[in-house]
Amino acid sequence: MVIQRIFMVLFGAISYSTDQMVEHINNLPREVRKNRDLSVFDVVSIDDLSNDDIHLIFDVAKKFKELGNEKFSLLKGMTVFCVFFEGSTRTRASFELAGKKLGADTINITSNGTSISKGETLHDTAQTLNAMRANIIVVRTEYSGIPQFLAKHVGAAVINAGDGMHEHPSQGLLDAFTMIEHYGDIAGKTVLVVGDISHSRVFGSLVRILPRLRASMRVAAPKTFVRNGFREAFPHVQVFQNVEEALLGTDIVIALRVQEERGGGKGLPTLREFSKTFGINERRFALANVGAIFMHPGPVMRDIEVHNALMTKGTTKILNQVENGLAVRTALEWLVADRTDKKVKLYDSI
Ligand code: MLT
Repeated sequence: MVIQRIFMVLFGAISYSTDQMVEHINNLPREVRKNRDLSVFDVVSIDDLSNDDIHLIFDVAKKFKELGNEKFSLLKGMTVFCVFFEGSTRTRASFELAGKKLGADTINITSNGTSISKGETLHDTAQTLNAMRANIIVVRTEYSGIPQFLAKHVGAAVINAGDGMHEHPSQGLLDAFTMIEHYGDIAGKTVLVVGDISHSRVFGSLVRILPRLRASMRVAAPKTFVRNGFREAFPHVQVFQNVEEALLGTDIVIALRVQEERGGGKGLPTLREFSKTFGINERRFALANVGAIFMHPGPVMRDIEVHNALMTKGTTKILNQVENGLAVRTALEWLVADRTDKKVKLYDSI
């Protein structure tokens, strides 16, 4: 009896201190967040985010990055569904890892195993996920607009992980975060995006976020990748057909993969020809400003949009982008699923 009592007191003390420790860890990102909330329930497009939202995401992501491999219970009891109708390595793994870091249960659904591939409507899939009380649905699809549709019909927070040729907001955010991490501030810096601006959803998010951070933007691409109406839609973007001219005076160079799965290859004679005229090699990169950095959202087609030798240079930030992707996606998941204002999303279940 006495032994049992001592054991209970000891056990109580240990579990009490463990709880305190968990709370202490959870409080570290909370201190940075300062009870701020996003102005949106879903993250579908950069356009939906206010400047305060962007800065909140960056503040919290910076803290998560600093805290490294720490685990939290900020989303304990919540469920993150990663619904990927298209292939992915970095994006899916980092959203899943982010959910696990936050203490949520994570479920992966990929295209081959979905009921959509058996003929179910997207609306029915949405209702199914809703019935399972998902807290977050991270969705990637080849069709532009599906995340918007889902966001309207589910109670869960929807995060767009890439929809067709439209947007990939978490990539735009992590790219901007990586630039700011390097330069401190990117106001007045010149960012050059080279390659398939026509089919790339990464470009769709970059072109929206960079002006918000007061960076100036250039693109260098074959004429066939500059759609009719591009200049009117994005008057703030300088368009070049000669990559060497475009590189002069540039601080950040981002190369984009030719999106062959979306018909990108049809705008070019061959990939070799593209590599010869637009591929970034060391000689070309040296035309950029001293101290310039090179970025790429991945996956890279080595020796096509970027020369192999550039991949391992200290000025190349591709792996920093991957690391920052985890921090930014952890911030996004926490912010959308754990609102301090306790506002509840309204949605149309019909
Ligand atoms: C995407 O899914 O858009 C990727 O992150 C970039 C690419 O596929 O080239």
